[in-house]
Amino acid sequence: MPEDVSRTLKDVAEVAYLKGDLEEHIAEASALLVGMERIDAEFLAKAPKLGIAARFGVGYDNVDVEACTARRVYATHTPDVLSGGVADHTWALILGFMRRIPKADTHARTEWAKRERSLPFGWDMEGKVLGILGLGRIGSEVLKRSQGFGVETIYNDLIEKPCLEKRYGVKQVDYDTLLRTSDILTVHVPLTPLTRRMIGAEELGKMKPSALLVNTSRGPVIDEKALTEALKRKQIRGAALDVFEEEPTPLGNPLLGLDNVVVTPHAASATWETRRKMAEMAIANIRAYLEGRRPPNLVLEQQGAEF
Ligand code: 8YV
Repeated sequence: MPEDVSRTLKDVAEVAYLKGDLEEHIAEASALLVGMERIDAEFLAKAPKLGIAARFGVGYDNVDVEACTARRVYATHTPDVLSGGVADHTWALILGFMRRIPKADTHARTEWAKRERSLPFGWDMEGKVLGILGLGRIGSEVLKRSQGFGVETIYNDLIEKPCLEKRYGVKQVDYDTLLRTSDILTVHVPLTPLTRRMIGAEELGKMKPSALLVNTSRGPVIDEKALTEALKRKQIRGAALDVFEEEPTPLGNPLLGLDNVVVTPHAASATWETRRKMAEMAIANIRAYLEGRRPPNLVLEQQGAEF
């Protein structure tokens, strides 16, 4: 969060950075910039003056929107501004795994000059099938960036996307076909009761032995234990993960010990440009509320709500 952006609120609010126990300080707050903290009815009961919970991010699975609406607390988020950045990171993970960049980096630093070990070989992109689970804001940016790699693209989404099909030649397939056909399966669904653990042992069992599973959405969409088992048994080729069931992921997470895994620390939106755009949008939502206007980026479920 670039501090100079939140400082622009100083004419309408006192800005405090809360570290440690949020609940200790929340009683006085009228507006809250929300990271990954859980905002639910229990939390809101301790925040009687709160009028807006402004997510610093697009996903809002950590915000109980119904509870917010019941207490007339606006719930906002930062859609679109991070889609390109997250799609870039998704491709960095795909290419990082396929060309074994973390291993090649270590090799160049520690092994190359000794000439004792062979190079870590990777795999070409050309001719592979890229499967996109969730062709929304971020999934479609991943698709856009796939042009030029010589990949065939398929997707599965609740909503058909005829414009993207026409423009990029991507084909809608059912979920089963997506799992069975993708060489690279990249996940871009929000975390909801429907998507929680939608990739478990059964789904992993349908994937190709040569498949790479990529996740820059939310950890709990994948059953991490089942994934760890599948990777240990080399049932699929690998995983490239930015998100985990528990974050930060514990040092003892067995996934971190596997060499067919590339990981980053929930960093897909972590660029100077993207974080600034996210901050400006989140702060604009807070300013609107503090000035008595309806915040511009209400989450979908609140867009028709009367406040
Ligand atoms: C951020 C995210 O890292 O947008 C989201 O939903 O998960 C990420 O962009 C996170 O929101 C930081 O609070």
